[in-house]
Amino acid sequence: MAKIMVTGGAGYIGSHVVKLLGECGHKLIVYDDLSNGNKWAVLYGDLIKGNVGDEELLNKVFKQFKPDIVMHFAAFIQVNESVKKPIKYYQNNTSNTLTLIKAMINNNINKFIFSSTAAVYGIPSKIPVTEDHPLKPINPYGQSKTFVEKILKDISYSSNFNYVSLRYFNVAGADPDCKIGQAYRESTHLITRALKTAKGEYEKLQIFGTDYPTKDGTCVRDYIHVVDLAEAHILAMDYLLNQNVSDVFNCGYGHGFTVREVVNTVKKVTQIDFLVEETDRREGDPPELVADSSKIKNVLKWKPKYDNLEFIIKTAWEWEKKYTTEIKPNS
Ligand code: UFG
Repeated sequence: MAKIMVTGGAGYIGSHVVKLLGECGHKLIVYDDLSNGNKWAVLYGDLIKGNVGDEELLNKVFKQFKPDIVMHFAAFIQVNESVKKPIKYYQNNTSNTLTLIKAMINNNINKFIFSSTAAVYGIPSKIPVTEDHPLKPINPYGQSKTFVEKILKDISYSSNFNYVSLRYFNVAGADPDCKIGQAYRESTHLITRALKTAKGEYEKLQIFGTDYPTKDGTCVRDYIHVVDLAEAHILAMDYLLNQNVSDVFNCGYGHGFTVREVVNTVKKVTQIDFLVEETDRREGDPPELVADSSKIKNVLKWKPKYDNLEFIIKTAWEWEKKYTTEIKPNS
């Protein structure tokens, strides 16, 4: 069993990984400032309230807990917000991550799993996109993660520090046991936004842009179930702990859906017809992002279980209904 520190473990993706790691019997410390996370989402391990930029606290936690590996989820994630507030993204996602890595190295902790993103590719020149595609992000969010990937590459080259960078495509869905799910202060992601509209929390769902060069004019994304993504982290951890390697993997299923297809599937799953309005493009959105996921399947032997848009939406819908009725937000 490994000792793992999980930053951002009270957040959406982090909490699903914590659940899986806890079920496998690993020893966990969850480090989260609760700016976007929730205490109730941490089902295993001890929670320490702290910011990733707090070097003093990190040193203290590392000395006490001595983790074998750090999984780093804590980050800001909204593409559109990053265009308006770039400093917020470079400070938290890039600068604070550097502080975390520095504190790890000072405490002889040299295994790291990084939450990267498909946004590092910008507008890919070919779809599906492979890991060796040039990194040309088109928004500060993607750039903030690209900087970290470069930092990781340089550090691993010069020392015995090893990392796996997982480039997430569009993560969605919720724990099929319905104990945890997405619970952001403000939701901007398509599936959550559409479900909340179905529930009546918003008057309408806006489709941002219908003039993209795609089959129906709306953006195409590769939606991956959060539990399949969590499994990828377990495999990446085993890979890192068993050999001295550093690597990068796409995490997506390898096929995409348009915004209209997602909206229609949400209507089908919820059996609720809601108002949809077509508006202008949202700043910073690439037309199409679909993963070539052969590398993670070949090297890590990743076998996704939930490659089904209806299932993804169904688990998110079950959670969405429970979240407002049984669980108090922000507690
Ligand atoms: N969209 C709408 N209406 C909405 C919300 C979204 O039309 O109310 C559209 C967006 O314009 C985009 C698509 O739905 O075309 C998906 O948007 P999301 O906000 O759900 O997700 P993004 O693709 O912008 O970004 C997500 C993650 C990023 C990650 C990226 C990788 O937030 O961290 O997927 O594909 F980098």
